[in-house]
Amino acid sequence: MGQKKIGIMVSGRGSNMQAIIEASRDPNYPARVELVISNREEAPALEKAWKENIEGVFIPGIGREWERKVLDLINEHGIELLCLAGFMRVLSPEFLAQAPPVMNIHPSLLPAFPGLNAQKQAIEHGVKISGCTVHFVDSGVDSGPIILQKGVEVNQDDDEEELAERILRIEHQLYPRAVELWARDQLEIEGRKVRIKEEKGHG
Ligand code: GAR
Repeated sequence: MGQKKIGIMVSGRGSNMQAIIEASRDPNYPARVELVISNREEAPALEKAWKENIEGVFIPGIGREWERKVLDLINEHGIELLCLAGFMRVLSPEFLAQAPPVMNIHPSLLPAFPGLNAQKQAIEHGVKISGCTVHFVDSGVDSGPIILQKGVEVNQDDDEEELAERILRIEHQLYPRAVELWARDQLEIEGRKVRIKEEKGHG
């Protein structure tokens, strides 16, 4: 079975992107990163992509025109799945209607603490468990059908950085796994729910 082509959209550091790239080095991993798109020129993720010999593109601009350029590029590359990885922009319903499926990773147990600074929100709320979520993207903010989640304990003396670091380690396991499930055709969306199907035979 060939590897499906995925595109990753980033705005910053790119450690989740790197985790997916690393997973895809295994020839049995069913997806590979074909293209990285950033809306910030200075995003360290771009440099990381170049080091891996992956095409990394900064696309300037905003709004519909920006989204048009992204769609053109992902079509040119035959991208079959888009993964948002620390991508700090909301995509329009028009974009989502024309794009391949889009996934996102978020550093909380959604629907708790959507939006910015999820780890800070969790600490301020005083929750004892937080975690991360990989979900399909819909036109809301962090509101689409949930694919995988994993919990992380919040220690009472945690600051935002400590909690973010502990969650990040789990993110790096969860995101490549969610992409793998998608690429093996094991995800079935039923309304809000994502059902994980048994793996069909190899091949
Ligand atoms: C990750 O913690 C990701 O979950 C979060 O930004 C960080 C990006 O790190 N995303 C969001 O908060 C999206 N709402 P990375 O660039 O090193 O992957």
